Amino acid sequence: MTITKSIAKVRSIIKKQKLKNKIIGFVPTMGALHQGHLSLIKKARKDAGFLVVSIFVNPLQFGPKEDYRIYPRNFKKDRALLEKERVDLIFYPYPKNMYTAGFSTYVEETSLSKSLCGKSRPGHFRGVATVVTKLFNIVQPDIAYFGRKDYQQAQVIKRLTQDLNIPAQIRILPIIRQKSGLALSSRNAYLSQKEEKKALVLYQSLRLARNLVKQGQRKPHFIKTKIAKLINSRKNLKIDYIELVDPKTLKPVKKIDKKTLLALAIFVGKIRLIDNTII
Ligand code: PAJ
Repeated sequence: MTITKSIAKVRSIIKKQKLKNKIIGFVPTMGALHQGHLSLIKKARKDAGFLVVSIFVNPLQFGPKEDYRIYPRNFKKDRALLEKERVDLIFYPYPKNMYTAGFSTYVEETSLSKSLCGKSRPGHFRGVATVVTKLFNIVQPDIAYFGRKDYQQAQVIKRLTQDLNIPAQIRILPIIRQKSGLALSSRNAYLSQKEEKKALVLYQSLRLARNLVKQGQRKPHFIKTKIAKLINSRKNLKIDYIELVDPKTLKPVKKIDKKTLLALAIFVGKIRLIDNTII
């Protein structure tokens, strides 16, 4: 396994692998790896002849009041996990090399990125789209893997690769959860035991909605109100959004008469967590 911070070194390694006709698989991450990340990496390992994982806490996708500085970082542990998964190359750049002096070019998806998390985190998807485009240009993957945990992010990236003719296939893989139902997230590391229990309300909300729909409920407003009641009945929880949207356009639906995405974002204390399911 090669570990490098150098963009030039990644380029020269990839060039050699491409000459050998290896399929380049790529899993971009921000590190603090868990089984959610590893599920993408395991799948990529099966598909790819050469597997690249990037670890980069991207400053551009964090708002000024968000958790960039304290975002969990544990390179030693990540490296050991990636070694075990037989990853070929870890790209672990410095922010100052990704964003050199005078950096002033951004990638912005202008439709899918405007609802849901895009509303409550202005600039977030511009930061994601920009860094993913840069990483794609550096790694030049044949296939790149993303988790449905960040449903909107995956859709934005699919759209941008299509719109900008980036020759990478995008694969989107299922949400990995704890036994309790809590979706794995690097940010779960911030939660106390008590808060982790409180965070289960996300999964309970998804189940509540699914059951209501099963019982014949078709009104988004009714389902959203029920979920809001459940969440507001608990202390220390704050709703960021509860939305029922078309899974392709991410625009709110008026009636649940076909596949619909339920997406949630809540604050448990100060920690913002998201979850989603297709109903
Ligand atoms: P990060 O939060 O580290 O996530 C990296 C990838 O792992 C994303 O595609 C995410 O959807 C996936 N993932 C996280 N938790 C998961 C879970 N419980 N089940 C399945 N997949 C899961 O997302 C980012 O980093 C960044 O925005 C990035 C794309 C790297 C750009 O900076």
